[in-house]
Amino acid sequence: MPNWLKDAVFYEIYPQTFCDSNGDGIGDIPGIISKLEYVKELGCNAIWLNPFYDSPFMDAGYDVRDYKKVAERYGTIDDVREMLKKAHSLGIRIIFDLVPGHTSDQNEWFLKSKQPGKNEFSGRYIWTDSVWEAPPQYRLLCGITDRDGNYLVNFFSSQPALNYGFNIMRFWLDVGCDGFRVDMADSLVKNEDGEKPETCKIWKGIRKMMDEEYPDAALVSEWCNPKVSIGAGFHCDFYLDHDNNGYRILFRNKDRKTGETTAVFSKNGKGDITAFLDEYLSDLNATKDKGYISFITCNHDTPRMTKLFDKTEAKLAYSFIFMMPGVPFLYYGDEIGMKFMEGLTSKEGGFSRTGTRTPMQWDDTANHGFSSAPADKLYLPVDTSDDAVTVKAALEDPDSILNTLKKVIEIRHANPDLQSDGEFEVIYAVKEKYPFIFKRGEFIIAVNPTNQEQSAPFAFDCDTVYELGSHEQKGSYMVMSAQTLSLLKIK
Ligand code: NOJ
Repeated sequence: MPNWLKDAVFYEIYPQTFCDSNGDGIGDIPGIISKLEYVKELGCNAIWLNPFYDSPFMDAGYDVRDYKKVAERYGTIDDVREMLKKAHSLGIRIIFDLVPGHTSDQNEWFLKSKQPGKNEFSGRYIWTDSVWEAPPQYRLLCGITDRDGNYLVNFFSSQPALNYGFNIMRFWLDVGCDGFRVDMADSLVKNEDGEKPETCKIWKGIRKMMDEEYPDAALVSEWCNPKVSIGAGFHCDFYLDHDNNGYRILFRNKDRKTGETTAVFSKNGKGDITAFLDEYLSDLNATKDKGYISFITCNHDTPRMTKLFDKTEAKLAYSFIFMMPGVPFLYYGDEIGMKFMEGLTSKEGGFSRTGTRTPMQWDDTANHGFSSAPADKLYLPVDTSDDAVTVKAALEDPDSILNTLKKVIEIRHANPDLQSDGEFEVIYAVKEKYPFIFKRGEFIIAVNPTNQEQSAPFAFDCDTVYELGSHEQKGSYMVMSAQTLSLLKIK
């Protein structure tokens, strides 16, 4: 286990829309380099960078044409080296995105695989023996290649499923990256793999290689099943926004019939913390001392929380995330409360995800400092509405989400009890009731996201270390005013 994960706080960067250094309307690696100090000031000591490899961009780069080539629009491999060098000198690690389950249909391997004559690549993707043979349980494409057969797709039609992985990991680890976020890590073995024993076998082998050759490199899975993924050798597994799961219960749940928000962190107070805990505690206990559950504020596939939450709700939700065990991830722009931009035309296979991928809002210059290109040449439009927050404005506002998060992250770094490994013990959690109180080592965290005062039987002798809102002790009860998060230290 890389030791640095114990106190890692990640920042996710979507290269298309983070910072454009050359005025062509799309973000690039030199742009990222120019913002590394900003990432450090935020308190993040690690970055997850979305794919920057050569690609036809039918799925924003998750359709890799050449795994070892940097897409021209982002820069060169020397820029990547420079980025790693500067990040490392600032104490920031960078993990890259590894897409092992599929390639682009423009990848040289696939171009050869789809040829009719048998060749070295015929079996590198998954084909049926004839165009007329198409088992209905699979997503297959046919009639568009000279090769006779259907081929399996792993995601979009432009992403044929790879039959087995090829090790491009050493290549990037040798360039100097600090590990990988693995795309659809559960999708290696394509035929029936039930609880994924065969997929896990492959990852265990890869983990063994990493332990031997790159012991300081991290493996983070997009799997959202920590019992299985951490057992398979991943150091961290994302807690993703999935139907009916604990993450959704906390931050994005809606009543299916009425459309009303029922997320625990919504101020309307209709959530149920115990429904989250049922899942979370079981996963946490099963993975204790083996790996981490990674909370995310959002990612490039998920609506930003501000789609549902106002500023205070978002502050409470994010502060909670950075006070939980495991390795947390902050999605670029969440720290200033960027919006989910509604009504955008899909870009590069973004579809409903496009509104989460708009340009970072840096300052009050043109395009909020993202790019000097004319507005109509930008990769996606910048939010220019009157209430669009920028980093510059947020830094100057003591009440901003940004300043709140900086403080919370700083407190986390200063206290091992609040970091990845620290203990987590539920103190007060009652079905459909608030507040929620838990203990981490010497700290108590009490949270009342609702717009009502809430109280709970709780009487420890504590000092307040940090607080959004306010609370008071009344006899054996802790009374919390509306929308409060209290971080207390037991005396
Ligand atoms: C998950 C990635 O996060 C998403 O953006 C992508 O479209 C799919 N995997 C397919 O690679």
